[in-house]
Amino acid sequence: AALAAQDATTLPRPEADTARRPYRRAVVMTMGALHAGHLALVEHARSLADVVVVTIFVNPLQFGPTEDLARYPRDLEGDLALLSGPGLLRPQDVVFAPSVDVVYPDGDPTVRVSAGRVGEVLEGESRPGHLDGVLTVVLKLLHLTRPDVAVFGQKDAQQVVAVRRMVEDLDVPVDVAVHATVREDDGLARSSRNAYLSAEERERALGLSAALAAGRRAADGGQGPDEVAAAARAVLDERLSDDDAVDYVALVDAATFAPADARTRDALLLLAARVGSTRLIDNAPLTLR
Ligand code: PAJ
Repeated sequence: AALAAQDATTLPRPEADTARRPYRRAVVMTMGALHAGHLALVEHARSLADVVVVTIFVNPLQFGPTEDLARYPRDLEGDLALLSGPGLLRPQDVVFAPSVDVVYPDGDPTVRVSAGRVGEVLEGESRPGHLDGVLTVVLKLLHLTRPDVAVFGQKDAQQVVAVRRMVEDLDVPVDVAVHATVREDDGLARSSRNAYLSAEERERALGLSAALAAGRRAADGGQGPDEVAAAARAVLDERLSDDDAVDYVALVDAATFAPADARTRDALLLLAARVGSTRLIDNAPLTLR
């Protein structure tokens, strides 16, 4: 077998932990302040595995020096109460909520994961080092929880692409599952950061989902990539105020994250904007024709 592996033209895929134990384990990684989006991931994880591990850890490594690490909402009691709700955690499931010195006993780690090019565009441009910090903690939490499958939300589309790239590039023995973005009734994507919004800001924040809808209408109407992005930006510009700022409006190839062009079919429309002092992101998969 060793010889065969040497001769193989493709690497054998490393086996998930199920090869060594008789049940499947799923992990849902979170930073807490749980909401319906996180809970949907937990429900999905239950459908994929016999045991679900939910991690709750506000990872300092993925926050920039001017970001909201100190004021990021923390409510472990509330989170545990939510996870005890019907259809969520069962007796065999686990919540892993380590403190910072357990995860980083020697302070910031010397060796880290680099997201490479995926970490340099869009979110990476607005938040340098953010995706490196995400991947470093994701890899650590994968090692600490040893799941067969890890479930992530489409809400953080670039995070999903970065995690998938890491799993491929570093041969990490885990399956990646993705759950669609969960929204409020009025369209606002659920986010722990929505708690920062005043009533007026929350109203303006609806501009993000409205912009995605406008982009989707343009795509459905047969418009090209530039027109789709322009349609979304026009709505954002109209709905946001002088107190707000658009970070980016981008249409990318859903598989590669390269800018969409005339040949792109499956695309992602990605938005980031600051509403008051709160930075929000949202995205919509759409088909160009
Ligand atoms: P956090 O923002 O708490 O999100 C945890 C998981 O929930 C992520 O996979 C995220 O995409 C998903 N999620 C958040 N809001 C969602 C929504 N409205 N609909 C669907 N899924 C949603 O993302 C992180 O934490 C961190 O970067 C983490 C991966 C835990 C690493 O620190």
